[in-house]
Amino acid sequence: MSTRSVKIGISGRPSEYEIKIGPGLLGGSGTWARKCLGKGAAKIVVVSNPTVFKLYGEQVTSSLQAAGFAVSQFLIKDGEVHKNFRTAESALKVFSEAKLSRTDAVVALGGGVVGDLAGFAGAIYLRGITFLQMPTTLLSMIDSSVGGKTGVNSAFGKNLIGSFHQPSGVLIDTATLATLPKREVTAGLCEAIKQGAISGKPLLDQTGDLLTLYGNEKDSALISNLGFQIPLRDLIAAQIAFKAQIVTGDERESSTRLDGKSRKILNFGHTLAHALEKVTDYKYFKHGEAVGYGILFAAELSKSLALLDEKSVNLLYDVVHRAGTLPALGNIDPQEVFEAFKFDKKYLSGSLQMVLLKGIGKPVIRTDISPAPIKAALKKLLRKWA
Ligand code: NAD
Ligand code: GLY
Repeated sequence: MSTRSVKIGISGRPSEYEIKIGPGLLGGSGTWARKCLGKGAAKIVVVSNPTVFKLYGEQVTSSLQAAGFAVSQFLIKDGEVHKNFRTAESALKVFSEAKLSRTDAVVALGGGVVGDLAGFAGAIYLRGITFLQMPTTLLSMIDSSVGGKTGVNSAFGKNLIGSFHQPSGVLIDTATLATLPKREVTAGLCEAIKQGAISGKPLLDQTGDLLTLYGNEKDSALISNLGFQIPLRDLIAAQIAFKAQIVTGDERESSTRLDGKSRKILNFGHTLAHALEKVTDYKYFKHGEAVGYGILFAAELSKSLALLDEKSVNLLYDVVHRAGTLPALGNIDPQEVFEAFKFDKKYLSGSLQMVLLKGIGKPVIRTDISPAPIKAALKKLLRKWA
């Protein structure tokens, strides 16, 4: 099966990078890495976690070695809780012990946690070393591996410490999704729905069509089938092309931009998502699952402000429902969630910046929403979903 390729060129940067998408690509990861890094690169540290490394580490390591790289590993413990400074410091120690120079590279093999941490450590080691992404979750394929946001969580909040550090290439082996737990697939599908909702009907419909193929059974064996891999590859490529277009126009998420092409629109659904994650101590929801609810909250709020029609709201409920089962909202206290909005990154400037919709594919950023409609939209979602 042929592969898809999307190129990202950041304005003002001399080089662009390529994202390759298709099943089975990890087998050729060494040749690909050599092409991305050039002849001068000698050493690579693969950052991964034990779950992913057990599945794909040997294949990647031997392919990199066959391409002439000296390879070492740094495995972080599995889980969001390990995306922190302490782990980043341990990564730096391993890079230093491996004597990585600025012509060498760090490879992130795993989901968004591994990618964000490896990218951040790569951004600060020697003031920035080349890094490559090999994402293995749906969320990391369509979102976190693309666009250069890297970071760690800290006592100040989630993802508040980080750096923009673009990878030099992203290799997406879509076959790795066959081993991904079902809940993680659902979480990634919610992020895909988010990007569909802000991009427009074609991407939202393409996402919905894949959900139809995935069906109610959501059988992971289906993911390996060629008949599923082709539309999966094409959807991932289309999702990335959309994200690439936004990132290219506003790499650093300019704080003054509030237009419909600002990078901030990628935070659609994230105001509620971050609040839900916070009130449940980051233990109850997968990030993408919380985004699923966040999409519906933003849709309800948009409708209550006469921006979005009922038909579009219902369409979003339908696709989120079809993405899979989300953790129940029964024990969530709306007042607690409302208080947690204040911890949102977008609140740092003093007012809550909400990404809303005035139609599918028509995001708007609003800073003038009063508490009453926010509380009402939240209650409506809790009532309707129950
Ligand atoms: P994750 O990295 O925690 O991976 C989810 C789980 O799946 C983990 O247990 C992992 O070990 C396992 N896993 C990964 N690939 C697998 C595979 N192929 N087979 C079997 N198991 C596999 O979670 P995620 O959803 O990928 O990423 C979430 C993180 O991404 C969060 O920290 C979030 O803040 C970050 N994020 C960053 C950006 C960005 O732009 N940088 C965007 C969105 C999210
Ligand atoms: N995931 C949001 C962004 O990359 O900007």
